[in-house]
Amino acid sequence: MKIEVVLTESEIAQEFTEGLEARDLPEKCFYWSPQSVDAWLALARDPLFDGLRQLWATLPEAVKPSLEHFGQAAPVVSFGAGDGSKDRPLLDFLRGSGRDLEYFPVDASQSLLELACAAAEDADMETSGIKADISSPVHLVFASDAAESPKLFLMSGNSLGGFDPLEQIRHLASCLQEGDRLILDAEMHGADTIARYQHPALQRFALAPLAGVGICREDGELRFEQKLDERHQGLFQTRRHFRAERDLPSVASGVAIARGERIAMNFQYTYTPEAFRWLLSERAGLKILQEISSSDGRFRAAVCAR
Ligand SMILES: C[S@@+](CC[C@H](N)C(=O)[O-])C[C@H]1O[C@@H](n2cnc3c(N)ncnc32)[C@H](O)[C@@H]1O
Repeated sequence: MKIEVVLTESEIAQEFTEGLEARDLPEKCFYWSPQSVDAWLALARDPLFDGLRQLWATLPEAVKPSLEHFGQAAPVVSFGAGDGSKDRPLLDFLRGSGRDLEYFPVDASQSLLELACAAAEDADMETSGIKADISSPVHLVFASDAAESPKLFLMSGNSLGGFDPLEQIRHLASCLQEGDRLILDAEMHGADTIARYQHPALQRFALAPLAGVGICREDGELRFEQKLDERHQGLFQTRRHFRAERDLPSVASGVAIARGERIAMNFQYTYTPEAFRWLLSERAGLKILQEISSSDGRFRAAVCAR
């Protein structure tokens, strides 16, 4: 298995400790410990995300016209690939069309990256994993330079919404060259968004990084709050935080959390369709070639070009 390491485990461990000290855990820490990886895999397979999985399963047929100009080589770079399962239908389609497929899953999680690489290698796909920080413009450029254009970039699972989308979409767009395509999805905002975020599988996922340092559900309360991002109409941010209900004297490398303290537990953006289009076209300067909605209307994928 080939995995190039740009972001090391010790750097992530340090970010995790610093995150606990700052009472604010970065997104990558939610996919790092064995507990987090288990919780994420269970969540990704939960019926809550049936619509999203179906969307990626039906994309190959829908996006065919946007990929017709690809020649014999078909490099695919997937940012925040996870276990790679959502990428798979497009990979199978590209290979099935007789092209030479090269797959570059990019992720901070060693365990998820290994799953993505192992599954692709089992299917005899040419695969090189890249362990990198996709919130870093330098790492993004490094990963996107792994292949020649035209190439296909993927970003699935509302991954954009785990970062500041106004910044992240610009970093992503700067990786695209003439002929490249980016397919990314986003979760549309609904009246039930906050209720959905309280689903038991999502709560287990949200608490898993703390479970890795011995903090359990009974030690405090997980709270959710939603706010409008005033920078543009139609951007909603759902924040989670954990409030300690007793003193937690030694959670990691001498970090103590006192009763009543709050730890910010990452956030997720959801959008109106108009705000999603604005992000891609106005904010990032991309052309939207196609938009495809999931059958439940909750997710939307866009095919973009420079
Ligand atoms: C919402 S999950 C989506 C996974 C996959 N694309 C899917 O849809 O099943 C976000 C993915 O981004 C990865 N990730 C989060 N923060 C990251 C970072 N800063 N750098 C690289 N990967 C990151 C996580 O490990 C995880 O695999």
